Amino acid sequence: MDGNGRWARARGLQRLLGHENGAISIRRISRFCRSIGISEVTFYALSTENFARRPKTEVSLLLRLLKDFLVSERAELLDNDIRLTHMGHVEKFPPEVLRELEETERLTREKRGMILRLALNYGGRQEILDGIAALAAEVAAGKLSAAEVRGMGEAGFQRYLYDPSMTDPDLLIRTAGEYRLSNFLLWQASYTEIWVTKDLWPDFGVPALQQALKDYCSRERKYGAIHDEASGQENGSASRSGGTPEKLGSRPIR
Ligand code: FPP
Repeated sequence: MDGNGRWARARGLQRLLGHENGAISIRRISRFCRSIGISEVTFYALSTENFARRPKTEVSLLLRLLKDFLVSERAELLDNDIRLTHMGHVEKFPPEVLRELEETERLTREKRGMILRLALNYGGRQEILDGIAALAAEVAAGKLSAAEVRGMGEAGFQRYLYDPSMTDPDLLIRTAGEYRLSNFLLWQASYTEIWVTKDLWPDFGVPALQQALKDYCSRERKYGAIHDEASGQENGSASRSGGTPEKLGSRPIR
Protein backbone atom coordinates (compact mmCIF):
# COMPACT_ATOMS: atom_id res chain seq x y z
CA MET A 1 0.00 0.00 0.00
CA ASP A 2 2.74 2.43 -1.00
CA GLY A 3 2.24 6.05 -1.82
CA ASN A 4 0.14 7.44 1.02
CA GLY A 5 2.87 9.95 1.86
CA ARG A 6 3.39 10.96 -1.77
CA TRP A 7 -0.36 11.31 -2.26
CA ALA A 8 -0.56 13.73 0.67
CA ARG A 9 2.58 15.66 -0.31
CA ALA A 10 1.27 16.20 -3.85
CA ARG A 11 -1.76 17.91 -2.31
CA GLY A 12 0.17 19.91 0.28
CA LEU A 13 -1.41 17.80 3.04
CA GLN A 14 0.00 16.08 6.12
CA ARG A 15 1.01 12.42 5.79
CA LEU A 16 -1.81 11.44 8.12
CA LEU A 17 -4.34 12.44 5.48
CA GLY A 18 -2.58 10.16 3.02
CA HIS A 19 -2.92 7.29 5.47
CA GLU A 20 -6.57 8.16 6.13
CA ASN A 21 -7.29 7.98 2.43
CA GLY A 22 -5.26 4.77 2.30
CA ALA A 23 -7.67 3.28 4.84
CA ILE A 24 -10.57 4.26 2.56
CA SER A 25 -8.82 2.37 -0.26
CA ILE A 26 -8.62 -0.73 1.94
CA ARG A 27 -12.38 -0.58 2.42
CA ARG A 28 -13.02 -0.03 -1.32
CA ILE A 29 -10.74 -2.85 -2.45
CA SER A 30 -11.97 -5.34 0.18
CA ARG A 31 -15.56 -4.65 -0.77
CA PHE A 32 -14.82 -5.28 -4.43
CA CYS A 33 -12.78 -8.44 -3.73
CA ARG A 34 -15.68 -9.82 -1.71
CA SER A 35 -18.16 -8.95 -4.48
CA ILE A 36 -16.26 -10.97 -7.09
CA GLY A 37 -15.59 -13.98 -4.87
CA ILE A 38 -11.91 -13.55 -3.96
CA SER A 39 -11.33 -15.88 -1.02
CA GLU A 40 -8.43 -14.14 0.77
CA VAL A 41 -6.87 -10.71 0.63
CA THR A 42 -3.91 -9.61 2.73
CA PHE A 43 -3.03 -5.94 3.23
CA TYR A 44 0.50 -5.01 4.30
CA ALA A 45 -0.53 -2.26 6.70
CA LEU A 46 2.66 -2.05 8.80
CA SER A 47 5.98 -3.81 8.33
CA THR A 48 8.44 -4.59 11.12
CA GLU A 49 10.66 -1.96 9.49
CA ASN A 50 7.86 0.66 9.46
CA PHE A 51 7.17 -0.08 13.12
CA ALA A 52 10.82 0.17 14.17
CA ARG A 53 12.04 3.00 11.93
CA ARG A 54 9.20 5.47 11.39
CA PRO A 55 8.83 8.41 13.78
CA LYS A 56 6.86 7.39 16.88
CA THR A 57 4.24 10.05 16.07
CA GLU A 58 3.52 8.49 12.65
CA VAL A 59 3.35 4.96 14.10
CA SER A 60 0.93 6.21 16.78
CA LEU A 61 -1.25 7.84 14.12
CA LEU A 62 -1.28 4.64 12.08
CA LEU A 63 -2.29 2.62 15.14
CA ARG A 64 -5.07 5.06 15.91
CA LEU A 65 -6.28 4.76 12.31
CA LEU A 66 -6.15 0.98 12.64
CA LYS A 67 -8.23 1.12 15.83
CA ASP A 68 -10.84 3.37 14.16
CA PHE A 69 -10.89 1.10 11.11
CA LEU A 70 -11.48 -2.01 13.24
CA VAL A 71 -14.43 -0.40 14.96
CA SER A 72 -15.98 1.30 11.92
CA GLU A 73 -15.68 -1.77 9.65
CA ARG A 74 -17.20 -4.30 12.04
CA ALA A 75 -20.79 -4.05 10.82
CA GLU A 76 -19.73 -4.24 7.17
CA LEU A 77 -17.53 -7.27 7.84
CA LEU A 78 -20.35 -9.07 9.61
CA ASP A 79 -22.95 -8.14 6.97
CA ASN A 80 -20.70 -9.37 4.18
CA ASP A 81 -19.57 -12.61 5.79
CA ILE A 82 -15.94 -11.46 6.03
CA ARG A 83 -13.50 -12.80 8.60
CA LEU A 84 -10.82 -10.35 9.77
CA THR A 85 -7.51 -11.81 10.89
CA HIS A 86 -4.00 -10.49 11.38
CA MET A 87 -0.41 -11.68 11.15
CA GLY A 88 2.52 -10.03 12.91
CA HIS A 89 3.82 -8.97 16.32
CA VAL A 90 0.83 -7.02 17.57
CA GLU A 91 1.65 -7.73 21.21
CA LYS A 92 3.73 -4.54 21.04
CA PHE A 93 0.64 -2.43 20.21
CA PRO A 94 -1.17 -0.30 22.81
CA PRO A 95 -3.83 -2.26 24.78
CA GLU A 96 -6.76 -0.25 23.37
CA VAL A 97 -5.73 -1.18 19.80
CA LEU A 98 -5.24 -4.82 20.74
CA ARG A 99 -8.65 -4.88 22.39
CA GLU A 100 -10.40 -3.74 19.20
CA LEU A 101 -8.37 -6.14 17.07
CA GLU A 102 -9.24 -9.09 19.31
CA GLU A 103 -12.90 -8.07 19.41
CA THR A 104 -13.18 -7.77 15.60
CA GLU A 105 -11.41 -11.11 15.15
CA ARG A 106 -13.67 -12.74 17.72
CA LEU A 107 -16.88 -11.38 16.21
CA THR A 108 -15.96 -12.40 12.66
CA ARG A 109 -14.34 -15.76 13.48
CA GLU A 110 -17.14 -17.85 11.97
CA LYS A 111 -17.45 -15.80 8.76
CA ARG A 112 -16.57 -17.76 5.64
CA GLY A 113 -17.20 -15.46 2.65
CA MET A 114 -13.68 -13.98 2.53
CA ILE A 115 -10.64 -13.56 4.75
CA LEU A 116 -9.41 -10.00 5.15
CA ARG A 117 -5.96 -10.34 6.67
CA LEU A 118 -3.96 -7.41 7.99
CA ALA A 119 -0.18 -7.74 8.17
CA LEU A 120 0.68 -5.67 11.25
CA ASN A 121 4.23 -5.21 12.49
CA TYR A 122 4.85 -8.08 10.08
CA GLY A 123 8.12 -9.16 8.49
CA GLY A 124 8.63 -12.20 6.27
CA ARG A 125 12.11 -12.92 7.64
CA GLN A 126 10.85 -12.64 11.22
CA GLU A 127 7.98 -15.03 10.42
CA ILE A 128 10.44 -17.66 9.15
CA LEU A 129 12.75 -17.12 12.15
CA ASP A 130 9.80 -17.47 14.53
CA GLY A 131 8.82 -20.69 12.75
CA ILE A 132 12.34 -22.09 13.13
CA ALA A 133 12.37 -21.14 16.83
CA ALA A 134 9.02 -22.91 17.39
CA LEU A 135 10.33 -25.97 15.57
CA ALA A 136 13.58 -25.97 17.57
CA ALA A 137 11.59 -25.74 20.82
CA GLU A 138 9.64 -28.86 19.86
CA VAL A 139 12.87 -30.70 19.06
CA ALA A 140 14.39 -29.59 22.39
CA ALA A 141 11.27 -30.79 24.22
CA GLY A 142 11.54 -34.20 22.56
CA LYS A 143 8.24 -33.77 20.67
CA LEU A 144 9.93 -33.94 17.28
CA SER A 145 13.02 -35.83 16.11
CA ALA A 146 15.70 -34.49 13.76
CA ALA A 147 14.60 -37.13 11.23
CA GLU A 148 11.01 -35.86 11.41
CA VAL A 149 12.22 -32.30 10.80
CA ARG A 150 14.23 -33.46 7.76
CA GLY A 151 11.22 -35.33 6.41
CA MET A 152 8.49 -32.78 7.04
CA GLY A 153 8.87 -30.99 3.73
CA GLU A 154 7.48 -27.58 2.82
CA ALA A 155 3.92 -28.38 3.87
CA GLY A 156 5.22 -29.60 7.23
CA PHE A 157 7.16 -26.41 7.87
CA GLN A 158 4.17 -24.28 6.88
CA ARG A 159 2.53 -25.45 10.11
CA TYR A 160 5.03 -23.27 11.98
CA LEU A 161 4.21 -20.07 10.11
CA TYR A 162 1.88 -17.41 11.55
CA ASP A 163 -1.20 -18.61 9.64
CA PRO A 164 -0.72 -22.26 8.59
CA SER A 165 -4.06 -22.29 6.78
CA MET A 166 -3.12 -19.35 4.57
CA THR A 167 -3.23 -20.06 0.85
CA ASP A 168 -0.13 -18.94 -1.07
CA PRO A 169 -1.13 -15.66 -2.71
CA ASP A 170 -1.86 -15.83 -6.45
CA LEU A 171 -1.28 -12.15 -7.09
CA LEU A 172 0.74 -9.48 -5.32
CA ILE A 173 -0.03 -5.87 -6.22
CA ARG A 174 2.50 -3.11 -5.56
CA THR A 175 1.43 0.48 -5.83
CA ALA A 176 3.40 3.72 -6.29
CA GLY A 177 5.70 2.05 -8.83
CA GLU A 178 7.75 0.11 -6.25
CA TYR A 179 9.46 -3.04 -7.52
CA ARG A 180 10.36 -4.77 -4.24
CA LEU A 181 8.97 -7.44 -1.95
CA SER A 182 9.83 -5.33 1.12
CA ASN A 183 9.96 -8.38 3.38
CA PHE A 184 6.35 -9.37 2.56
CA LEU A 185 5.29 -13.05 2.70
CA LEU A 186 8.75 -14.27 1.74
CA TRP A 187 7.81 -17.92 2.20
CA GLN A 188 4.29 -17.75 0.76
CA ALA A 189 5.05 -15.56 -2.27
CA SER A 190 7.61 -17.90 -3.89
CA TYR A 191 5.41 -18.35 -6.97
CA THR A 192 3.13 -15.37 -6.64
CA GLU A 193 2.50 -13.31 -9.75
CA ILE A 194 3.50 -9.66 -9.28
CA TRP A 195 1.75 -6.64 -10.75
CA VAL A 196 3.11 -3.13 -10.31
CA THR A 197 1.17 0.07 -10.85
CA LYS A 198 2.27 3.68 -10.61
CA ASP A 199 -1.02 4.53 -8.87
CA LEU A 200 -0.50 5.76 -5.33
CA TRP A 201 -2.38 3.57 -2.84
CA PRO A 202 -5.10 6.15 -1.98
CA ASP A 203 -5.83 6.44 -5.73
CA PHE A 204 -5.89 2.69 -6.31
CA GLY A 205 -9.42 1.83 -7.30
CA VAL A 206 -11.60 -0.87 -8.79
CA PRO A 207 -10.66 -0.18 -12.47
CA ALA A 208 -6.96 -0.62 -11.62
CA LEU A 209 -7.68 -3.82 -9.72
CA GLN A 210 -9.75 -5.15 -12.63
CA GLN A 211 -6.83 -4.41 -14.94
CA ALA A 212 -4.48 -6.30 -12.61
CA LEU A 213 -6.85 -9.28 -12.50
CA LYS A 214 -7.23 -9.29 -16.28
CA ASP A 215 -3.47 -9.26 -16.69
CA TYR A 216 -3.13 -12.07 -14.12
CA CYS A 217 -5.68 -14.18 -15.97
CA SER A 218 -3.65 -13.96 -19.18
CA ARG A 219 -0.50 -15.33 -17.54
CA GLU A 220 0.69 -18.88 -17.68
CA ARG A 221 1.79 -20.20 -14.31
CA LYS A 222 4.40 -22.88 -14.80
CA TYR A 223 5.84 -23.27 -11.29
CA GLY A 224 9.16 -24.21 -12.88
CA ALA A 225 7.60 -26.84 -15.17
CA ILE A 226 7.09 -26.59 -18.92
CA HIS A 227 3.96 -26.09 -20.95
CA ASP A 228 3.66 -28.52 -23.83
CA GLU A 229 2.60 -26.22 -26.66
CA ALA A 230 2.19 -29.04 -29.15
CA SER A 231 -0.40 -31.06 -27.24
CA GLY A 232 -1.78 -28.22 -25.23
CA GLN A 233 -1.19 -30.42 -22.20
CA GLU A 234 0.34 -28.94 -19.14
CA ASN A 235 3.29 -30.63 -17.54
CA GLY A 236 3.54 -31.40 -13.84
CA SER A 237 2.04 -28.68 -11.71
CA ALA A 238 2.03 -26.07 -14.46
CA SER A 239 -1.28 -24.31 -14.90
CA ARG A 240 -2.75 -21.53 -16.87
CA SER A 241 -4.20 -18.86 -14.69
CA GLY A 242 -6.19 -17.59 -17.63
CA GLY A 243 -9.95 -17.41 -17.69
CA THR A 244 -12.06 -15.10 -15.69
CA PRO A 245 -10.96 -13.04 -12.73
CA GLU A 246 -13.38 -15.12 -10.65
CA LYS A 247 -10.97 -18.05 -11.11
CA LEU A 248 -8.55 -16.24 -8.78
CA GLY A 249 -10.86 -16.60 -5.85
CA SER A 250 -12.38 -19.92 -6.71
CA ARG A 251 -10.57 -21.98 -4.12
CA PRO A 252 -12.34 -22.76 -0.86
CA ILE A 253 -11.47 -20.92 2.32
CA ARG A 254 -9.70 -23.20 4.75
C1 FPP B 1 3.33 2.99 2.94
O1 FPP B 1 3.23 4.20 2.22
C2 FPP B 1 2.15 2.85 3.80
C3 FPP B 1 2.19 2.55 5.12
C4 FPP B 1 3.45 2.33 5.86
C5 FPP B 1 0.97 2.49 5.94
C6 FPP B 1 -0.23 1.87 5.30
C7 FPP B 1 -1.42 2.18 6.10
C8 FPP B 1 -2.67 2.44 5.63
C9 FPP B 1 -3.02 2.31 4.22
C10 FPP B 1 -3.79 2.90 6.49
C11 FPP B 1 -3.85 2.38 7.90
C12 FPP B 1 -4.13 0.94 7.98
C13 FPP B 1 -5.30 0.40 8.38
C14 FPP B 1 -5.46 -1.06 8.40
C15 FPP B 1 -6.46 1.23 8.73
P1 FPP B 1 4.00 5.51 2.64
O2 FPP B 1 3.21 6.28 3.61
O3 FPP B 1 5.37 5.13 3.08
O4 FPP B 1 4.01 6.32 1.32
P2 FPP B 1 5.24 7.08 0.65
O5 FPP B 1 6.19 6.01 0.21
O6 FPP B 1 4.61 7.80 -0.47
O7 FPP B 1 5.82 8.01 1.69
